Amino acid sequence: MNAGAQAPVICVDGPSGSGKGTVCRLLMQALGWHLLDSGALYRLVALAAARAEVALDDEPTLARLAADLDVQFDATAAGAEKIMLEGEDVTREVRQEHTGEAASRVAALPLVREALLARQRDFQRLPGLVADGRDMGTVVFPEAPLKIFLTASAEERASRRHKQLKEMGFDASLAGLAEEIRVRDERDAGRAVSPLVPAEDAVCVDTTGIPVDGVMARIRELVQARGLD
Ligand code: C5P
Repeated sequence: MNAGAQAPVICVDGPSGSGKGTVCRLLMQALGWHLLDSGALYRLVALAAARAEVALDDEPTLARLAADLDVQFDATAAGAEKIMLEGEDVTREVRQEHTGEAASRVAALPLVREALLARQRDFQRLPGLVADGRDMGTVVFPEAPLKIFLTASAEERASRRHKQLKEMGFDASLAGLAEEIRVRDERDAGRAVSPLVPAEDAVCVDTTGIPVDGVMARIRELVQARGLD
């Protein structure tokens, strides 16, 4: 066991647009911990597959791509996330909705999930890790001392994602996005391996209609109650 395996993990799971990304970044900054954006790994596998012209149902080849993925997560001078694939900045491409769609297809394949497991666990380092995903609390870090499952109404999730994409300069129709998110969530929740479900010991936090400050106040209470701050 490496020393990092002693580091505490806070798992934040939930469907698309539930606010996980925002919450995890704020929590990471507040605690001075590391961050695992596991969705970005699945998105990067999808992107690497498109570049290598690998079909999204070619499980053995996709698993090899996932195992050999040459990625780097950096921060820009302004503190924003920068994602590199084989030395190339792919931050914008990674965030596009069609990449999320393809990610959800490759994420349903057991061999791909297995190939990414050790890579995700390697992010566990002192002083601690905030892990953002779908199966952080159920599969990747089942021993984590705090597991949060974030939810929000389907309308609010679609409108948050819409706002995010617009802020990044992408054109997206709200109705189209709502439908894409619905299909993606259905696939994520219905797949045989690591489906999107709250861990038995997760605390569910519904963020519908609650501003970020309010959500963070609730989460800080949970962090304090576990003695993690
Ligand atoms: O969170 P994000 O939208 O970046 O995730 C993209 C896709 O990756 C999800 O729709 C899901 O299918 C997959 N994913 C997953 N398990 C995770 C994180 C993401 O299956 N831990």
